[in-house]
Amino acid sequence: MKQWYENAIIYQVYPRSFQDSDNDGLGDLQGLLDRLDYIKSLGVNTIWLNPVFTSPQVDNGYDVSNYFTVDPHFGTMATMDALIQRAHELDLHILLDFVLNHTSDQHPWFQDALKSPKSLFRDYYIWQDTPNGQVPNNWGSFFGGSVWEQVPTEPNTYYFHLFDKHMPDLNWANPEVRQAMIEVAKYWVGKGIDGLRLDAFIHIAKADLGQNFPTDQTGPVIAEPMYANLPNVVTYLQEFIDELRKINPDLFILGEGASADPALAALYTRTNRGSALCDAIVSFRNLPKQAVPAPKLTATVKLPLAEQLDTAALPTSIVQWQTALAQTTQPTLYFSNHDLPRMATVYADRKFETRSLKTLATMQYLQRGIPIIYYGEELGLHNAELARATAFQDQMTSTLIDQVPEAERPAVLQYLSGLHKTPARQAMPWDDSAHQGFSEHEPWLRTQPAPITVAAAEADPDSILNFYRKLFQLKQQPLFATGKFRLLLVKTAGLIVYQRQLGQKSALVLTNLTSETVTYQNDDWLNADITFTVGQVTLDENSWHLAPWSTLVLQQDQVAWPAE
Ligand code: NOJ
Repeated sequence: MKQWYENAIIYQVYPRSFQDSDNDGLGDLQGLLDRLDYIKSLGVNTIWLNPVFTSPQVDNGYDVSNYFTVDPHFGTMATMDALIQRAHELDLHILLDFVLNHTSDQHPWFQDALKSPKSLFRDYYIWQDTPNGQVPNNWGSFFGGSVWEQVPTEPNTYYFHLFDKHMPDLNWANPEVRQAMIEVAKYWVGKGIDGLRLDAFIHIAKADLGQNFPTDQTGPVIAEPMYANLPNVVTYLQEFIDELRKINPDLFILGEGASADPALAALYTRTNRGSALCDAIVSFRNLPKQAVPAPKLTATVKLPLAEQLDTAALPTSIVQWQTALAQTTQPTLYFSNHDLPRMATVYADRKFETRSLKTLATMQYLQRGIPIIYYGEELGLHNAELARATAFQDQMTSTLIDQVPEAERPAVLQYLSGLHKTPARQAMPWDDSAHQGFSEHEPWLRTQPAPITVAAAEADPDSILNFYRKLFQLKQQPLFATGKFRLLLVKTAGLIVYQRQLGQKSALVLTNLTSETVTYQNDDWLNADITFTVGQVTLDENSWHLAPWSTLVLQQDQVAWPAE
């Protein structure tokens, strides 16, 4: 049976930044509810909502203290119910961000577990006793420092946290934890949500804690083989998902496999006894990137490196993802999310800004796969420029900025604003009113007004916004939603050419991801209909010429499918 999510086009909403309805500077569920018609107008059919559970907000909701309630900043359960209902009336599906690897340290389970080793909830978390109070091993946390935090009342005992120290990891080896998380998820499935984005699920199994990760470095190091993609991840996941599918066989499971390569993504989406594990995977490895040299500073401060698209490696990467997932599911197609800098900041060509963004979107979203659009991307929104070290809300980054001599700080703030996740989480700019229509209050993240708003983009027929609408209309057609996919080998670096085919219909998508004119010849397509172009495209003799960052999409009824 065909599942609804085979045609999913997902719009990611970071709720605290989308629309504030009660003017406290933080976006909320009522704000989102008020903007559902806008989301619908984009031609998407699914919303991925970043976490809205009750949370101390140490990590903007990824630190959950109560899974059964909505955080008061975001509204009430009644608003959540109304949101789900209205979304469904508009044929929009809702995916909830489901945090299952860890809780907040304020969660009652952890608070109880901290009280005594005899707590009934002690085994819900991961502890290690050390004879002399030294750190149990050298494993590093993704948020800096060690994964181990000393228990204040028990100096010889540490608890495990892969992310912030206020986010202790749950012990999935404990069947009670697995059952408890199934109950939480069942509660939300019962509320009518259509799917879950499984946060950090690849980390739910850990290796033997009594070992160091082999390294020459001193101090904590990122030790993925010790806490990522271990075999028990699949075991725990299968049980969790099987239980949920019993109550909703159509539930869409989008797994966040941050470090998953195509082979792992295939493993996590393979079907087993008739039921899939995840239905799709998002990974940080979805696009090939290369590092850009950092600015030179007088101080010896090691700046993180910005990245850009490695267009030379792109064809291989596309083929690897498409091929690996051909038997199980579809790839996910995206550029940005709340953990990454914005697409326009990283990938746009400044000289050909608008058309480069349209061309990149075409290249990515017309492939076989599920597009995921990060809110504001449809406007061409850039990362905001943050003016203070603390604005990054990230200890490692503020410490680094503080080490830079004052004279060089403005340049460093600007540089880091272009590659950090927090400046990509700014308030959605709706119109020219105060705070760009997001709120009457200063938004939680103070930024300069964005140079583009929804209202301005609506009024411009050539805007990226209106282009996205046309692109998604096309994407919803069966040919682009479910048709076969084939990348054609071309000699010109940066020219991506692929074909889609369904029944008697086929399409050729050509995108020039370079700032040079490129030429392409394919006699099978000379009489095809032009579906649309971006930039300047000409046909002379038998060759197509695509000016910098131009796109050509052709369709024809006769199938010209290259020989296998
Ligand atoms: C992945 C989320 O996308 C990220 O924002 C969060 O910090 C970590 N998981 C921890 O939950």
